[in-house]
Amino acid sequence: MRTILFLCFALLLSCSGLKKYTVEENVPFNEEAVQVIFDDEISKYGLQNGEKILDLGSFTGKFSAIIFRNYPQTKFTLVDVYNYKKLLFNYSFERNDSTYNFRKNRRFVKSRLTKIPLKSNTFDKILCRRTYHEFRPFNKALMLAEMKRLLKEDGELIIVDVIPNYLGHTDAGCKSLYLEANTIMHEVKRQGFTFVKEDSTTYKRTDSTDYNLSILKFKKQ
Ligand SMILES: C[S@@+](CC[C@H](N)C(=O)[O-])C[C@H]1O[C@@H](n2cnc3c(N)ncnc32)[C@H](O)[C@@H]1O
Repeated sequence: MRTILFLCFALLLSCSGLKKYTVEENVPFNEEAVQVIFDDEISKYGLQNGEKILDLGSFTGKFSAIIFRNYPQTKFTLVDVYNYKKLLFNYSFERNDSTYNFRKNRRFVKSRLTKIPLKSNTFDKILCRRTYHEFRPFNKALMLAEMKRLLKEDGELIIVDVIPNYLGHTDAGCKSLYLEANTIMHEVKRQGFTFVKEDSTTYKRTDSTDYNLSILKFKKQ
């Protein structure tokens, strides 16, 4: 009986996406290289220190933790449909640095697919990084309405996503298709956002697979 239980548990682990994520997330966070790789991208977001940022599709919040190192007064709300909070304490960026106050400047909120349980008009910026392509087509308008509701009147939505290298290029993790920047722009504008600007950058993964990212900024009004 014990052997069967053990085998089921091992099978569950090997099928789980969490195991795969754990490997990448355990890369030591304090590596200067990690910060340098992302500094260029983050500088294009146009953030101000001290803002309230909602990181939508935050996963463990690792990317917000990277932003935080250059914006230490900023308050992060990490929102995901999965409760990654439980995993967070295993990661080096939460564990190793006693002077590092990210823990005090971030909170986790577990959301439902199209409903984010937070107050309206709260955030200066919403960052939706490598997450927009994961929204199901029939949920997109609802998600964009939620983002609009949560932004302050002068707030901005920043959508960062992978530019497909070829027709049919999918995200290996979630299997969703990556979208052309123009498609995202069109969909977001249709929900009443005003397009502000587009930038691009190269996202370097720790496994040395590089992607081109587009950074699209929109105003709520
Ligand atoms: C590829 S990860 C991106 C992680 C992180 N933002 C980054 O750039 O490294 C996409 C995340 O979006 C989350 N997600 C997908 N749909 C969502 C939704 N409707 N609301 C909140 N989170 C969602 C997934 O659970 C996943 O953690």
